Order: sequence, then structure tokens, then C-alpha cells
Amino acid sequence: MKYRELIEKMTLEEKASLMSGKDFWQTQEIERLGINSMFLADGPHGIRKQAVAADHLGLNVGIPATCFPTAATVANSWNDELGERVGEYLGEEAISQKVNVLLGPGVNMKRNPLCGRNFQYFSEDPYLAGKMAAGYIRGIQSQGISACVKHFCVNNQEERRMAIDTIVDERTLREIYLTAFEIAIKEGRTKTIMSSYNKLNGTYTNENIHLMKDILRGEWNYKGCVITDWGGSNDRISGLIAGNELEMPTTAGETNEEIIQAIKGGKIKEEVLDQCVDRLLELIFTTEEVYKRPHIEFDVDKHHRVAQKVAEESIVLLKNDENILPLKYGKKVAVIGEFAKNARYQGAGSSIVNPTILDHTMDCFNESGIVSIGYEPGFERYGKKNKKKIEKACELARKADVILLYIGLDEVTEADGLDRQSMSIPENQIDLLNALYTVNSNIIAILSCGSAVEMPWINKAKAVLHGYLGGQAGSRAILRILSGDVNPSGKLAETYPIRYEDTPSFYNFPGKEVSVEYREGIYIGYRYYDTADVNVLFPFGYGLSYTTFEYSDIHVSRYGATFKLKNSGSVAGMEIAQLYIGCKSKEIFRPKKELKGFTKIFINAGETKTVSIPFDDKTFRYFNVKTNKWEVEESEYEIMIGASSADIRLKDTIFIEGTGAPLPYDKETLPSYYLGKTNNVSIDEFERLIGRKVPVSKWDKSKPLGYNDTIAQCQYAKGIFARFSYYMIVFAYWFLRKIGKRSTANIIMMSIYHMPFRGVARVTGGVINMPMLDGILMMVNGQFFKGLVHLLKERSKKLNMEKNK
Ligand code: BGC
Repeated sequence: MKYRELIEKMTLEEKASLMSGKDFWQTQEIERLGINSMFLADGPHGIRKQAVAADHLGLNVGIPATCFPTAATVANSWNDELGERVGEYLGEEAISQKVNVLLGPGVNMKRNPLCGRNFQYFSEDPYLAGKMAAGYIRGIQSQGISACVKHFCVNNQEERRMAIDTIVDERTLREIYLTAFEIAIKEGRTKTIMSSYNKLNGTYTNENIHLMKDILRGEWNYKGCVITDWGGSNDRISGLIAGNELEMPTTAGETNEEIIQAIKGGKIKEEVLDQCVDRLLELIFTTEEVYKRPHIEFDVDKHHRVAQKVAEESIVLLKNDENILPLKYGKKVAVIGEFAKNARYQGAGSSIVNPTILDHTMDCFNESGIVSIGYEPGFERYGKKNKKKIEKACELARKADVILLYIGLDEVTEADGLDRQSMSIPENQIDLLNALYTVNSNIIAILSCGSAVEMPWINKAKAVLHGYLGGQAGSRAILRILSGDVNPSGKLAETYPIRYEDTPSFYNFPGKEVSVEYREGIYIGYRYYDTADVNVLFPFGYGLSYTTFEYSDIHVSRYGATFKLKNSGSVAGMEIAQLYIGCKSKEIFRPKKELKGFTKIFINAGETKTVSIPFDDKTFRYFNVKTNKWEVEESEYEIMIGASSADIRLKDTIFIEGTGAPLPYDKETLPSYYLGKTNNVSIDEFERLIGRKVPVSKWDKSKPLGYNDTIAQCQYAKGIFARFSYYMIVFAYWFLRKIGKRSTANIIMMSIYHMPFRGVARVTGGVINMPMLDGILMMVNGQFFKGLVHLLKERSKKLNMEKNK
């Protein structure tokens, strides 16, 4: 232990006090020993340091900070160096706001397009997500603070996120859901990692010994800290044993006391606590830059310009018929769509940033050189139909050469704690598009949303430019692409299926009451569409440019692939070349192709460059469930260089010697996996894959409700009071939606409905403690008066104790 001497000077109480927050965002200090408190703040695309009231739902505003494009946006740049720059600027702002730990980036896989938090995550591909995250982390930590990669792991939906049990086979876990974290840890060297709210194969992630000890600390040799997600601690002692240093937020000392009692009672050795304290001290002492540096205000304008540059590199041109873009000089342009007036630029919830400056399209028009003949909103932002607005928009459209139509999802739809209900954009926007098309077919659709949407309307748009969620300078960045000042160079980091029904997890998302089964296995995103031959709207890795690129002269060696790339068009541009591999042996099931490298390169018009993409330790490996190790299968491998996953320009093969491991599967028993058609795998076949029975996925309604049951389960509670409360919550949710208060309705859903009872104690900062919760549970389970007496007794006990402190 590095800090043994210091730890020996601490009392047991002092050590335990470090293991949970002092308040909502800060850790405990020990003044007499010079141990400072740390400030932790969201988030992944801008600092959300709350000056007054604290919450993890994004209800109260933070101190102004630069709102950079969200992770889903920046991932489209496929530029991990750009990610590193973003990280540096985030780090600088964190320092100026005295934040020691920045709660991001988030690297969860986009298993399903409806996950409400996809806008905060990078990709459906672990390699791309891992590389981007490692860039962010390097940048953030270069400033002397800590990043906190989250949410570890298999937190791929928001629905019932604090209670859901994710059932996944070991190979899928390793290859798909853990690889990005592995890269973030080994290459990004993150000092902190946030465990997720959910369970992994039956055990809460922060208590999961296999995940936390065998893999994280053992195989990956991780020396940093594990912090729970806010209110995500279940059994503090089990968490401590698994090496969970910090529980957030505060529990007003309640769980610290549990640690003390567990040690005094001989349940755990003091050494377990000491190890956690040692790692936490390392985090405290290595993020002290925030106290050392004199306070400097960051350069707001400079950071804004950086945010714009990042957005410019991340915007994706999806369609450009008749080369309608870039806009020709002098064309009369009608600007239509509410988002042109009020930009849609970030998601809602814990990552919400209070921007320093906010560009809106209409305010940036003059400098763009584009000639606007007027603006009409055309639709109501939150989905209400309005014929008048459509008529007025059509009037304007008739007079224009070209329509710039700003559409997408509103901010309430993409948030923490809630998944989207469908993959479509609101109907009132599609009505508008249809109406405009009848008067003027020169429509350029500009999309703003943080995740994949269906586009059954796409034939009515000549061009589609996807701005994703471009941060505070996103609107200006879009205009610069429309005008041709910037050549688009983003490519999709996720697949756009034609219909939601085509997605591999369609039948298994968001799971049943207790669990979600990842029956599609390793086949998520393009790994599925490509292998199962399912047509998609836009493939992974796809994006257009105002120029064209020619690929030639591939040469593959043991070290990687080299080839030539020529800009064969008339303007300079950046191309993202992607390296995929495909294993020719059919002994172990695999996706047809998997991303194993990429590069983004700037090339002048007419110029040719030689490009190399090296192989690395991940190129040929697969996880063998028999040897329980990464192995290499001996085989010929196809090496493919593509402009997207569906546009392979060059191919070669290479023979790779294997590690000689026994074959992990019995082919006959897993037909869907060997075919790659895993969108509707039977329970029997899934059980053969995971090698055990899956747990019952429905609630056991006969049992009394306990700590880990959710408020939603009150519908089956014995107590009338609990059932009544349940229906009140459902009514409030319905009523608020009805009167257009969707955001408040959503908060009820995420912070009450799906909350496990234990969460009530965990997020109230000690207002309701566990003994009081026992009283509430008695009431819920039909012993109303006994429970009430217990609750009141425990409450006065708590108040007395607080008074005597
Ligand atoms: C989110 C985390 C966030 C934390 C603190 C949680 O609800 O899941 O991503 O960092 O709140 O705001």
C-alpha cells in the first residue's frame, strides 16, 4: 500500500468516512491529516457544476460552461485526437470550476436505438467507442484531474435501470460490452470508473466479484477507483469487498457505520477497507491540481470556437441528390422548422450543460453568405399538430428556390432514465415535410437528434444533413457545411435500420419485469445487419463528402494494412478509412466483419497519400468460453478496407497462426448464432449459449416487497396505501403528459416509478434512513399501523442522534 503510513494514523471512523460522499457532489475531507475533499461533477460534454441546489436529474442549472457536442456526435468524427482536444478543454474548464473528477465519458454500447441515453454514448462498436473514450480521458487527465468512465457495465437501457438484471453470455460480455471499457482503462488510463445501476447476471455490478475483481482488477490490472452511480449502491459491505471505494452521494454516514460495524463484528477484515482507502487517497492526491492552480477564467470565446470546430468535423451528410449541397451562390432559401430558431443541441438529464453562449441558426445567417428570404416555424416543438403553421410554411416555401428544413427530436425525448417510445420523428414534422413537398421539392432536411431515427420520408428530401446534437455552436457549424465553407467529413458511428422491427434486440428490449436477456449475443449493430443480410437505411461508417476518394494498392503484412488514398474530386476533404476483418474459418461463429482499425486523413484535391492502419492486440482475438481466455483462431483472415462497413474498397487475405485453443462451442446446438440470425433466438438456444437456465423474468407477486423491489411493484402490494400511491403516480404521469408537461412526467417515471425502495434511502441524503425504510416497507406490505409506528420511532431516534452529535 502506497499510503500505509498515513492510513495507520487514521481512526477506523475516519477511514470509513471516506467511503461515501460528504454531500451530493463532494467527498469527505480529514483536515487534521491534510486530506482534502474532492468535487465530482457531470459530465461528458460540458461541466455541470451546480452552485446551489444539487440533483442528478438535471433539474437545477449549473454554472455556465461550454456545451460541446455530445459523445454520439463527436464519435462521427472518428477522430480520437479531436476527442483528446475536447477532453483537454473539458479538463481546463473543470479546473477553473474546481472540479476534481469529471463524470464522463460514457462508453456503453448502443445495443438498441431506443435507449434514451444513446446521445451520450459513442457507438455500437466497442473498438471505436473505446478509442474515442481513451482520447477524451487522456485529454481530461492531462489537466491534472480525473475522468470517470461510465457506466460499468451492460447499462444499455434506461427502463428499470436501477433494478434490471442483464443476462448476457461471457463471450458477448467480453467482446462487445467490456472492450470499450478495457481500452478506456488500458489506453486512456482513467483514474476513476463509475459502476452502473443494474445487475449483471444476477449481481449488482458494483458487488459483482467476477466483474470487479477477476476482470477489472485482475485481468486489466486497474489500480484506480470505482464510484457507484448516484444512489446505485445496494449492499455497502458487498460493494466494499468487491473493491468499490466510493459510494455517491452521501448517506449521511449511515453506510459508513455499516462498514465500521462489519469490521468490528469480524465480518470483513480492516485490510479490505485499508486497500480501498489507499486507492481513494491516490485519487485525492493526484487530482489536487484544482487547489494548486491559481484561479483562471477560461477563454469563453475560444472554447466556443473549439466547440464549433468539433461539430464541423462530426456532422454527417447522409444524402445529396443532384449535388444540391453545398448551396449555390444567390439561391433564395426558405428556412423552416422550429429548431432553426431554438437550436436542439444537447440532451436532457444529468448531462445537461448551461451553455456560455448559444448559437441559433437564424442569428448566424448573415455571416453564412446564404440568402434567406424568411423563416417559418412550421411545427410545434413538442408534437402538437398545427395546420396554420404548416400553411404559413408552405406560403414561404413557394417563393423559395430551396428549403432548409430543420427537423428532429425534442430534448425531452432524449434523456437519462427514460427510453424512447419509437424510432420516428414526431408526426407533425412529417406532415409538414409532406405538405412542403407538394409546393417545392428542393428540400434539404437538417436533422437534430442524438440517436438513430427511421426516415420513411427520405424520398421527399433531396439532401439530408445530420447535425446530431452539435453543442452550443452546432447551428453555426451546420451553416458552414451548407454553404460549403466546410466539407463534411463525419461518418455514422451507428447503423440506421430501415425500421425498428429490423433491429437485432427488437424482441428483447427492454426485457421483462426482472431481467433483460441479450439473446442476440455478439451480433449488435452492423455485426448483425451485415451477417444476417438485413438491408439498412444507412450502414455503420457511412457519410458523404463534397469530394470523392479512390482507394488502391493494398498491401497487408503481419503488422497491418497499407494502401493509397486519392482525393479524386475538386475540393480538399477528409476521409475516414476503416479496417475490418473477417475470419474465413467457420468453426467458431463470428460476425461477417468487425472493425479493427480506422484513420481520418486530410487530402487536398488531386493529391494521393499512403495510409497505414496497424493491427493491434485486438485484431484477431476472440473470447473462448472454454479456456476462459482471449485466443486467436488459426485461419485465413480477410482484411477489408472500406469507406463504410457496406462499402469495401480493397481486400486482401492473411494467414494467422492460432493459439491452439479447443473449440468453444458445439456447432449443432447453436444454429442461430452460427447463421448470425439472432434477432429471435429461442430461450433454449440462448440457455445453451450461456450454459445455464435463465432466471424467471417476471416479478414474483406472492412475495412481500423488499429493498430491491421497485415502486412500480406497489401495484401488487398487500397494503392498500401502497396500491393507492401506485395509482396516484400513474395518474400524475398520465395527467402531466396530457397537459403537455412531458418533462415533469418523465421525472416522475425515472425518479419515482422505477426506483427500488433502497434507492429512497440512498438518494435522500439521510432524510430517510434504512430503519425508516423498514417501516415504509411494513406499510407497503399490509402492516400499515405497525409500519407507521416503526417509521415514526426510527425518525425520532434519528433526529435525537443528530441533535446529540
Ligand atoms: C447518472 C450518471 C451521473 C450521475 C450524477 C446518474 O443518474 O446515471 O451518469 O453522472 O447521475 O449526476
